[in-house]
Amino acid sequence: MITSLTHRPVKKRTRKGVTSVILIGFMGAGKSHCGKVLAKELGWRYRDSDAIIEKREKKTIRQIFKEKGESHFRTVESKVIKDLLKKPYSVLSFGGGAVCRKVNRALIKKGGLVVWVKANPDVICKRTKKSKSRPLLNGDTSKKEMLQLLKERENYYKQCSAISILNNGGAVLPRLKRIRQIRQIVKKQRTNGHAL
Ligand code: S3P
Repeated sequence: MITSLTHRPVKKRTRKGVTSVILIGFMGAGKSHCGKVLAKELGWRYRDSDAIIEKREKKTIRQIFKEKGESHFRTVESKVIKDLLKKPYSVLSFGGGAVCRKVNRALIKKGGLVVWVKANPDVICKRTKKSKSRPLLNGDTSKKEMLQLLKERENYYKQCSAISILNNGGAVLPRLKRIRQIRQIVKKQRTNGHAL
């Protein structure tokens, strides 16, 4: 159930090694669930870009999209991503569309160990169907439209990430095993002074 692909080669860059793990992936893939477990495993802080955007704007994501538009949301999102990447010892979860802007992709790629959290389209559909907090996927979004959006973004997720985790739900153990493997990669890179 778990993929162990390494998309990008490991490069030597800093003395300190990895101090941020960045979770990217489509809406409903389970970034926050995996992120919270991984943060606990590492003893690091878990930080979510959407939660910070809502706090800064004093509005929910849905209200921001409705009242100020997606473009405003994306501008705030870029600022939040930039700020979060300066916070060491953090597991960062970025909204599913964070990879759409080139400037974000550049920051994400050099920001730490990037993990692509994946789930099968059927699972994503099921998880997002009743969601009221995702303006881009509401009750009226067809599976076809969702698949189109996923297709448009998949290459970005792949480009930016070093490793991936498949999070279709079901048995907890394989997922935890993969999260522990990721923890080992982080620890090894910290010991060796490597960063991705
Ligand atoms: C978005 C994903 C959402 C949120 C916003 C836009 C997207 O976050 O940032 O609704 O464009 O994919 P999650 O991926 O955490 O649902």
